[in-house]
This record gives sequence, C-alpha cells and structure tokens, in this order.
Amino acid sequence: MSRRSRAAAASTLRCAAAGTCDQRPVCRARVLLLCLCILLAFALTLGLILSENETSSLEDMPIRVPDLNKDKLTHRPSKPTAAQVKRLVSEVNWSRLWYAQLQPFLIERHPGSRGSRTVRRHISSLLDSLSAGWSVEIDSFNSKTPRGPINFSNILAVLDPNAPRRLLLACHYDTKIMPLASRDPKQVFIGATDSAVPCAMILELVTALDIHLKMLKQQMAQVTLQLVFFDGGEAFEKWTPSDSLYGSRHLAEHMSRIPHPPGSEHTTLLHAVDLFVLLDVIGAPSPMFVNHFENTARWFEQLVSAEKRLHKLGLLSFHPSEQIYFRKDVIMDPVEDDHMPFLQRGVPVLHMIATPFPSYWHTMEDTADKVHSHTVENLTKVLVVFLAEYLGL
Ligand SMILES: *[C@@H]1O[C@H](CO)[C@@H](O)[C@H](O)[C@H]1NC(C)=O
Ligand SMILES: *[C@@H]1O[C@H](CO)[C@@H](O)[C@H](O)[C@H]1NC(C)=O
Ligand SMILES: *[C@@H]1O[C@H](CO)[C@@H](O)[C@H](O)[C@H]1NC(C)=O
Ligand SMILES: [Zn+2]
Repeated sequence: MSRRSRAAAASTLRCAAAGTCDQRPVCRARVLLLCLCILLAFALTLGLILSENETSSLEDMPIRVPDLNKDKLTHRPSKPTAAQVKRLVSEVNWSRLWYAQLQPFLIERHPGSRGSRTVRRHISSLLDSLSAGWSVEIDSFNSKTPRGPINFSNILAVLDPNAPRRLLLACHYDTKIMPLASRDPKQVFIGATDSAVPCAMILELVTALDIHLKMLKQQMAQVTLQLVFFDGGEAFEKWTPSDSLYGSRHLAEHMSRIPHPPGSEHTTLLHAVDLFVLLDVIGAPSPMFVNHFENTARWFEQLVSAEKRLHKLGLLSFHPSEQIYFRKDVIMDPVEDDHMPFLQRGVPVLHMIATPFPSYWHTMEDTADKVHSHTVENLTKVLVVFLAEYLGL
C-alpha cells in the first residue's frame, strides 16, 4: 500500500471518531447516517486510489529485462481459429496489390537513378498512408562501384522502434543494370519478379494487416515488425563479394553498431532481429520454396502448415494439392542474396526465393505480363497467416 492510501484510511478513522453528538436518538441516527455516507464516500475514494496505485506500481515494478538471444528461441506463434484465418485472408486484395502496390515499381530503378527515387517515394507515401503509424527512415550512403561512386538508399520502416524484438521482412527494390549488348537500347529491364512483386507483396501485407498492426503497436508488444527495402541488391557488372548486396552489407554493418535496447552494452539492433525473412524472385507460376537453414526449420514448418491449413479451408485458388509451394522433401543449395551479411553475423534467416529460378530471370523478359496472379495472391495469403501467427495479431 502506498503512502497516499494510508492517509486516506487514517482520515476515515477520524470521521468515525468525530461522530459524537448529544444523546438524542433522532440526532444520533441522523449523525450515524451522515457518518455512514461519509464512510461510504471515503471507502469509494480509497478504492479508486488503490486501483490507481495498482497501475502506477505496475509501471514502477522492475520489468523483466528482455533477453534478446533467448527470447527468440522460446517465442511461440499464436493459433488463430479457422474463422480468424478466414477473416485475415479476406483482407488481402489482389486488385490493390496489382494496381496500387505493384504498378509504380514497374520502371527502371537502378541505384542513384530517377526511377529509384520515384519508387522510394511510392514506398514511403504508401507506408505514411496507413493508420498503424510506421517510422520510416531512409538509410543513405555512398559506395564505390565498378561504375564509380554511387549513392544508395535503403528504406527502413519500423512499427514500434521501442519494442525489444523485431520480425524483419525484406526485399530489394533496385533493378539490375543490363548490359547494352544484350538488349534493344529502347528496352528497359523492370525486374517484375526480381523484385518488384516481392516488394509489392510486402506493401500489401502491411496494408491488409493495418488495423491489426495498429493494435499490436498500441499493446506495446515485445515483438514488432520491421520492413527493409534494400537498394543495390544487384551487381553492377559480374556478381562478386564487393560488387553486389550494397544495401544489405551497409545495413547489417550499421545495425551491428547500434546498441539495442538503447544503452545496452552487449546487444545491438542485430540481436533484436528474431527472424529475417527475405522475399525474392517471386511471381512465376508453380514456385517452390525450400528451407536452407537448420536454425529456422521450425519457422519454415510454420509456412508449410499455413499453406496446408489454407488449402484445407479452401482459401487458395488453383491449388490442386495441399503442399505445392513450401517443400520439406526437396533439398536445394542456398542462394546468395541480401540475407548473407545478416546470416554471417548470426541472424536467423528464412529465405523465400523461388527455386529453380524462372527461365526469364535476369533477362528483358522478366515483365509484369508473366506474373501469375493466383500464385502471388495465394502466397500473400500464406504470409498473412504467417505474420499473424508470429506476431500474435
Ligand atoms: C480492393 O482494392 C480496390 C483497389 O484499391 C478497391 O477498389 C476495392 O474496393 C477493394 N476491394 C475490397 C473487397 O476491399
Ligand atoms: C550523393 O549524396 C551526396 C550527399 O548526400 C550529395 O551531395 C551528392 O550530390 C549525391 N550525388 C548524386 C550523384 O546524387
Ligand atoms: C490461389 O488461390 C486461389 C483461391 O483463393 C485459387 O483459385 C488458385 O488456384 C490458387 N492458385 C495457385 C496457383 O495456387
Ligand atoms: Zn536479380
């Protein structure tokens, strides 16, 4: 009990003692009644004060210090009911994904170009239009490339920057610069599957889940969502360790220098990443995704069961058997991509890249007319369920 409520209790006692009067029965009854009323009023005030104290003492209580390394290993997904799954999935809107999210990406957008700036504006303004309240930051830097120094800009968006832990969802928004020799000078490479569609899927995911994410933020959840749109994923010339992954190499290094929670001596923003989910080369029909990493097998499993569940509920289209996208029975070599700089620093990774690549990968034929709408819609639905389960939406 706090000092404030002890004082209230003492004044209640004083009231009872003050209830003396001459001996006339009517007066005594009246005084007794009056005193009872006062007592009642004090009791109510006391109750109010006590309940106020309860909340303030919760704030004063030493909060369990989050253990960033341990908590991610014991994190459990929520189990939405069939009705909740149906509601979540019904929020995904294919026409919004196709027109509002995807179309603005379908231009040449190599690092430092005007198209790159246009696409950054699209991503920022879409995130700003949502009600969840994203903190959007442009992470700009300059790097040497085979074409001289170039300015790059990653886009970082965090739902609740103060949350101890983050589920990170990423794609790269730049396009590869295609050698002139391989194309008609008038043609431009727009990289529909690589990676306009994955980026549009991420925008649709946060749009579909907007109300839920807003609530997650209000609840000050332990795990929040972070989005990263990488610049400079592609090599300018031939893929080498120094000519590729410009944005992700920069960001992994940058995050490894930022103490988190703020002031921490042992952990950084990289430790705050529970899981790094990278989407790439998505949009062709019949994609297959396999898991490459032992330490994230249980989260891959979560994608497998989300696909199965949606199939059983009849919520996927042109989906003839229950397991076609996420395959545990297939082994494929890992693919070098923007997750590498994070993986090398010990961040758990789920790499959602379609294997094998479509035949038109890194050719001028990677255009929007080849994007298979049902596949993208269904995969977005699987991811909506995955995010809702991971974050407990
Ligand atoms: C889907 O999005 C489109 C375009 O943004 C919009 O016109 C339509 O009303 C939406 N449909 C539903 C069911 O919300
Ligand atoms: C690159 O960024 C720097 C610093 O932000 C700026 O001064 C410079 O003009 C930029 N260069 C180009 C080519 O945009
Ligand atoms: C995607 O889901 C829709 C129903 O929501 C289904 O009709 C379609 O067959 C699925 N397509 C693919 C390629 O999985
Ligand atoms: Zn590529």
